[in-house]
Amino acid sequence: MSSRGGRRSGQEALFESRNLLFYGDNLYVLREHIRDETVDLVYLDPPFNKGKDHDLLFTERTGRKPAAQVKAFEDTWKWDDAAWEAFQETVRTGPPKVSEALQSFRRLVPKTDMLAYLSMMAPRLVELQRKLRKTGSIYLHCDPTASHYLKLLMDAVFGPTNFRNEIAWCYTGPSSTKRWFPRKHDIILFYVKSPEAPFYKDAVRVPYAKSLRSARGRTGIYAGREYADMDARVAQYDVQGKVVEDWWPDITPVGRRKRELLHYPTQKPKELVERIIRASTLPRDVVLDPFCGCGTTVDAAQALDRRWIGIDIAKVAIDVIEGRLEREYGADIRKSYEVRPEPASAEDAYTLADEDKHNFEEWALHRVGADSAPHKRGADKGIDGRMYYFDHIDGESKLIVVSVKGGSTGPGHVRDLRGVMEREKAAIGVFVTRRKPTKAMREEADEAGTYYSAGLGRMVQRLQIITVEDLFDPEKKKRPVDFPAEAVPITGAPGLPEAIPAQEDAKLHKKGP
Ligand SMILES: C[S@@+](CC[C@H](N)C(=O)[O-])C[C@H]1O[C@@H](n2cnc3c(N)ncnc32)[C@H](O)[C@@H]1O
Repeated sequence: MSSRGGRRSGQEALFESRNLLFYGDNLYVLREHIRDETVDLVYLDPPFNKGKDHDLLFTERTGRKPAAQVKAFEDTWKWDDAAWEAFQETVRTGPPKVSEALQSFRRLVPKTDMLAYLSMMAPRLVELQRKLRKTGSIYLHCDPTASHYLKLLMDAVFGPTNFRNEIAWCYTGPSSTKRWFPRKHDIILFYVKSPEAPFYKDAVRVPYAKSLRSARGRTGIYAGREYADMDARVAQYDVQGKVVEDWWPDITPVGRRKRELLHYPTQKPKELVERIIRASTLPRDVVLDPFCGCGTTVDAAQALDRRWIGIDIAKVAIDVIEGRLEREYGADIRKSYEVRPEPASAEDAYTLADEDKHNFEEWALHRVGADSAPHKRGADKGIDGRMYYFDHIDGESKLIVVSVKGGSTGPGHVRDLRGVMEREKAAIGVFVTRRKPTKAMREEADEAGTYYSAGLGRMVQRLQIITVEDLFDPEKKKRPVDFPAEAVPITGAPGLPEAIPAQEDAKLHKKGP
């Protein structure tokens, strides 16, 4: 059975739940596809340009900086119209504290890229707070350039009493700075949704000697003799080790981990994310990374038997993750997760159609509620997807065949679908096209006629043409295909999917069959 239909019993959802890799803007995916209060842990590492561009982050976009320098600032976050809109939206509609925080930031760092960054982060953090279960935790990875602002924002979103730690991940490496100390730590802000969030301290113990050894090697603050003395004492009284403190000097950057290195910029070490996952979750809990990059969180969650959801806006990230998972866990891993391209607008969908025909097709089928046809060249020739429904609760199941066209199309393709409908004895044919249908195409569709639906109590068009724009129309997208969906059960129901099982299902899941 499909893993997509929204209307299923808890049991079905339970056994069909698969991990999810979304390819799209996380704000859209979070709002449209992830149910509230279903996630146990969020780790996020948003893109942020540090180092040489620091000055530029705080430069008012008034034209005083040479354009070339501005252009060289290759960051996702820029003070432009989109940032201004994001700022206004959160100020108008965000929770009062978050709205106030943003307005204060505007007074502090007006019209800067830092304000753009905070304006983009604010609605995403608000959504993430909603997605977390009451017992959920969130770890926001950033650097000291932005951490003080982000901490205020996190206070506004999660509440200051839900702050748990500011973790410093310390590392070493060459540095060319001459006028200040080399900047060699990242900040990870750890918050919880409520005081009920668990902390599994025994899962994050480290040997005393390990942390001292790394501290000595890196900073020299422990003199040789003192260190040796302490080490012996520690070994005597604590074989289990201690709960790792809020500074982590024992995890080397990924550049020195040859086996792990994927050359994806900003890749984080798996060991770092594993520690976070172990501290705040149990096996089968749900881990979400909305900026998942080359999939460090996804890989760490998989290794630790947690369920996971990854989101990234870059196609290259999704490709790298797929390769990474296959290398790490074998080809069969592909069956355990689903890739969902989620363009946020018709324009994005056209780009997807141009760049990746297969994923565009999958997305369109998914959007109308169909499953892809497995054997497009054999028995399913001319069919991209299928779905079944019951017109009447006592009636026979009926078939809908779907054809998706991401490129140029015309009346000939509509006629072909009509032929397929006859061959397959399908009640309805759905033709999804990126282009507006021409008069000739509409006439071809009309040729298929109408049929009386007992479920709906009216006539239904047998060959329905749906445009990509329709799939983003607030009204039409709710039920793009006209058929009696109320008469469940059905496979591949229309409407948006439920990303992961409901909370009840997840609880059941934890207990295991
Ligand atoms: C700093 S990297 C994350 C690296 C990751 N922690 C790892 O270890 O691979 C940030 C990622 O966020 C993605 N990204 C940027 N804006 C996004 C958005 N609006 N929605 C989803 N992903 C986004 C980028 O494509 C990039 O892969």
